[in-house]
Amino acid sequence: MNLTIDSLDRSRFKGERDTLALFLWEGEKFTAEGWLDSKKEDSLEAAAKREGFKAKAGETFLSYPEKEEPVMRLLLIGLGKKKDAKIETLRDGAGKAYKASSKQSETLWIDLPQWPEKISAEALAQAVTEGVLLGRYRYVKHKTDDEQKKKEFTLKKTVLVVERPEEIDAAKRGIKRGDIYAQAINFIRDLINEPPSLKRPREFAKISKGLESSRIKVRIYSKQELERMGMRSILGVNAGSVHDPIFTHFIYKPKGAPKKRIGLVGKGITFDSGGLNIKTGNHMSNMKMDMAGAATIMACLRACDALDVASEIHGFAPFTENMPGENAYKPGDVIQAYNGKTIEILNTDAEGRVVLADALSFAVKQNLDAIIDVATLTGAVVVALGDQISGLLSNNERLARDLLEASKRAGEKVWQLPLLPEYKERIKGKVGDWANISTRGGAEPGSIIGGLFLEEFVDSKPWAHFDIAGTAWTDSETPTCVPGGTGAIARTLLEYILAL
Ligand code: BES
Ligand code: MN
Ligand code: ZN
Repeated sequence: MNLTIDSLDRSRFKGERDTLALFLWEGEKFTAEGWLDSKKEDSLEAAAKREGFKAKAGETFLSYPEKEEPVMRLLLIGLGKKKDAKIETLRDGAGKAYKASSKQSETLWIDLPQWPEKISAEALAQAVTEGVLLGRYRYVKHKTDDEQKKKEFTLKKTVLVVERPEEIDAAKRGIKRGDIYAQAINFIRDLINEPPSLKRPREFAKISKGLESSRIKVRIYSKQELERMGMRSILGVNAGSVHDPIFTHFIYKPKGAPKKRIGLVGKGITFDSGGLNIKTGNHMSNMKMDMAGAATIMACLRACDALDVASEIHGFAPFTENMPGENAYKPGDVIQAYNGKTIEILNTDAEGRVVLADALSFAVKQNLDAIIDVATLTGAVVVALGDQISGLLSNNERLARDLLEASKRAGEKVWQLPLLPEYKERIKGKVGDWANISTRGGAEPGSIIGGLFLEEFVDSKPWAHFDIAGTAWTDSETPTCVPGGTGAIARTLLEYILAL
């Protein structure tokens, strides 16, 4: 199916086999002005009322208000009360509009609503574009006999209707940006959803190379190079796998002198079995997602190129499986990381922080203004914040504040957890410098402990860590996301980078 989005005048609306999506505010005067005459508008309002449609956030009402041909298919979408206006409601609404028309219509027309606060037509158009393109995402690559695959989708294009001619250029920019954001997110989803034995480090080397462009350089370090460099923590985690690790370094350079230089580090465990501390029950069932952080930074780098970002952005990602093979690293082992500090392994399932120790130490040497890592690091963050909120830990308040503000603009939920210095002694090793889990038994603040460990490898540089163990994956369906990988935090990172 060929889906295009364009800003066009409403006069092009034909009605026949088209769906028109109209957003309405709860408690405001009902209006389909310009689309329907006032008599039809009144009967539509009455019909919507009879069905209990109040334009609450997320409510929809589908109707065919025209009796004569061509039949007009009209979808009303509630935005909730104006005073509670949220751009997420618009994004989700656009996702619903897509789903309600993809198998029925050739063209979906979305009337861009007026927003109560001063939100640019660009931001509104961006949200609608993201909603449609994210709502459209499915992962059916490996289905041979799938309903969704067999059934031909009828929708050929989506047209955003902009009422004010002076807003058309802004809307076009919004569409372009929304397209880039959605492509980044869907790229992450594809990588997360891919089966683990089809995305081993070797495959990630290929995918990484594919990111190369006139402004993105990609350097891939092989196992032999990692040995020479002393990247022993990546090698340690890799020891139980029969597939060699890689470490990738991406560099995006803008045309002119860079505004800032930022490092993004992503955890790339292509499958986390737990290693010798093997995962039990169904804790292993979705551990193909353990490379979500690496996928996120790859997607962001590609988006930086498309967005013409004015800063220099580096990406770093270690890729390896965590497996319990006969050569596997063991509890009690001591490993020396790239920065010279030693790590005492107490649990082989706390492998993410171990590979990140090398990656962060390597990033530190690139003389960057800030380093941000993204990792599915701890089950504890799922207990603390659930699957809707990402954890943020940082050694720099200014950086944390900038990232939290970026997350609000992006419409993503992020909550900061403290890097409490009093807990640091819990990861002091008996034999090595730092233990990879708390040396205390019992219930521990696992996400903070993980953050405190990572802090030892950033050499006091401005650094922040996103724990996306809860948000990278979802088991429930929303208007803009199917079960599986979500693409969480990409939008926040892009908002942060664009505002530098
Ligand atoms: N990849 C997991 C964390 C995870 C858990 C991601 C659930 C997504 C969903 C990580 O490597 C891990 O196993 N962490 C352990 C740490 C523990 C051994 C200190 C955990 O959280 O159980
Ligand atoms: Mn693990
Ligand atoms: Zn893991």
